[in-house]
Amino acid sequence: MASSVARMVRVALVSFLAFTSIASALPASQAIRTVQTPDDDPFYKPAAGFESAAPGTILAQRSINAAIFGLIPNGVEAHQLLYRTTAIDGSAIATVTTVFKPKKAKLDRFISFATAYDSSATKCQPSFAYQLGAPQDSLIASVEFLIIQIYLALGYVVASPDYEGPEAAFGPGRLAGMGVLDNIRAVKSFKTLGLTDNPMVVGVGYSGGAIATGWAASLQPKYASELNIKGWVQGGTPSNLTGTLNLINDSVFSGFVPAAIAGITKPSAYGAELKPVIESIITPEGQKVLDVGGSECAVTALAAFFEKNIFDTKYQTLGDRFIYEPTIQKVMKLNTMGVNQDETPKAPTFVYHATKDEIIPYGDAKSMVKSWCSWDANVKFTTYASGGHATTEIVAIPDAINFVKNAFAGTTKKRCTQNTELGSILNPLALGVELEPILVKLIDGLIHLGDQDANLKKDPVGVWKKTL
Ligand SMILES: *[C@@H]1O[C@H](CO)[C@@H](O)[C@H](O)[C@H]1NC(C)=O
Ligand SMILES: *[C@@H]1O[C@H](CO)[C@@H](O)[C@H](O)[C@H]1NC(C)=O
Repeated sequence: MASSVARMVRVALVSFLAFTSIASALPASQAIRTVQTPDDDPFYKPAAGFESAAPGTILAQRSINAAIFGLIPNGVEAHQLLYRTTAIDGSAIATVTTVFKPKKAKLDRFISFATAYDSSATKCQPSFAYQLGAPQDSLIASVEFLIIQIYLALGYVVASPDYEGPEAAFGPGRLAGMGVLDNIRAVKSFKTLGLTDNPMVVGVGYSGGAIATGWAASLQPKYASELNIKGWVQGGTPSNLTGTLNLINDSVFSGFVPAAIAGITKPSAYGAELKPVIESIITPEGQKVLDVGGSECAVTALAAFFEKNIFDTKYQTLGDRFIYEPTIQKVMKLNTMGVNQDETPKAPTFVYHATKDEIIPYGDAKSMVKSWCSWDANVKFTTYASGGHATTEIVAIPDAINFVKNAFAGTTKKRCTQNTELGSILNPLALGVELEPILVKLIDGLIHLGDQDANLKKDPVGVWKKTL
């Protein structure tokens, strides 16, 4: 077993090297081609009067050429929908979802896949990254596109929304949750796909994608109760922003903090009340950091604020009292899952988390599950006893896919259950031989991303770049 994994790893490395040389051989002019960034692309701008459309209404549609890593056409039908969703203050905003339809698709169901783009810059929206010829600044979304390939290979239609909304607000979970739910509404009514009436849906997301998925699950009973949701899958869930902030302070991942502050203070999020507060405490050095956090994709943002401490008065004048400022405190609390009973998921939910997750605290996910279960939710909670944040996303793929299958079939357990997984190696055959090529690529990602982040510490940008 171990040696066959090693062999596959070698194959992956060789094909990966071949791929990188193709990529670098492409002339720069060809790499940017006709694809426009969301800020420049008129498709992203809704027509006047769109505000009166109901949440989830399709405002514009087009077909696109989708591509893995922006380079290799993947041969599935792909469409983009501009749809109406809702800002934190209840006002109308418009964002885009990308829908992939494989050949021989199952038409009575689809997957809503919230990718972790973890950035507050519009150029990092997945709808941009998925287009043939787009630069792959949004590296996490690019790697997760391989996971989408698995769902496509299994015959699922997959929708992947820009759930952070038109301003790319990273962090505000309620905004992301509504973005996911309205994307489901839009896809459901998109006639070109040929879906049956009221199709079944399972929502999936890991890490930043679990902010979106966890909040979609939480808000669905109130915001979109008409949807035929069969399940939710959320791993490495940042269920408590305060807990996450404390864990990533002064770490390899500190750069997520300025990105999230930039996101949470966007007008579509909590800008109206939070921006004046931030402006009154931010130092010139802190402003520089926020500017990077609000304008770069995850890798650059992480490198720019590597092992930094946001509680330092160098960045903001409140120092350690930063999160106790009343408005900041209020917003942090509003972004904690499992606090309000009327925000408990109704559909079966798979929550999984590594005890040694070095970015998102395991304990916070556990308390979220505990509250949900005390309110009669139906949660399967799996603890991964080895591996960290990135490895668990990959190692758990077979469990996630099996849960999705059972959720569609209605065969998940009807109550809360807990179990622990000890293994830390993905079994590439667990999902069948035909998926092996995709899983081999993912194993390659695992090698570079995992390793308890030893390599990340030394050279974060290099490690991410090597992943592609
Ligand atoms: C969120 O995390 C903070 C910091 O660890 C903690 O004080 C707070 O109680 C947590 N909230 C909930 C609802 O668990
Ligand atoms: C943040 O990191 C610094 C430097 O390691 C540490 O002194 C401080 O206590 C940390 N603050 C919090 C709230 O975790």
